[in-house]
Amino acid sequence: MAEQVHRLIYRSRSEIPRENREVVLAEIFDVARSKNKRSGVTGALLISDNWFVQTLEGDEATVSGLFETISRDDRHTDVSVIESTTVDARVFARWSMARISVAGRSDIPLHDVDGRIRPAAPDRPGREQQDLLTRMRNTIGADSV
Ligand SMILES: Cc1cc2nc3c(=O)[nH]c(=O)nc-3n(C[C@H](O)[C@H](O)[C@H](O)COP(=O)(O)O)c2cc1C
Repeated sequence: MAEQVHRLIYRSRSEIPRENREVVLAEIFDVARSKNKRSGVTGALLISDNWFVQTLEGDEATVSGLFETISRDDRHTDVSVIESTTVDARVFARWSMARISVAGRSDIPLHDVDGRIRPAAPDRPGREQQDLLTRMRNTIGADSV
């Protein structure tokens, strides 16, 4: 039977001063990755100078609770939900929280678990991941420059 996964995507405006950016982001990812690992949450966080777009995947109650916590975080503001839905499978199953940049550089590797490179013919999960990353990037669109 397919796993039922809740997926929540939101966008928010960053409140992190430019000069502290890397340090604060490192703190966010440290906490996010260890907490998400413990609670079975996976996802991706897209970062631009002014915006965040985050996908959270996991058990519905866990994702809702986490989103409530994240919404109250004063390192961002104007948090708005883009999508909140049940899906058949995780798109970022291997990522407790992947870091994605607007420019297209990200820590999503092109190789599979066995280390083989497969950029030319991604499988279905690969294509779904690309589609979702494109949707996340389009969410900030022209505002990202
Ligand atoms: C943009 C953004 C994304 C975040 N993503 C996560 C996340 O995926 N998981 C997480 O546990 N915390 C995330 N956080 C941090 C939470 O807001 C919160 O500080 C952290 O979960 C610790 O909460 P606690 O002290 O209530 O345990 C994020 C914060 C921001 C600003």
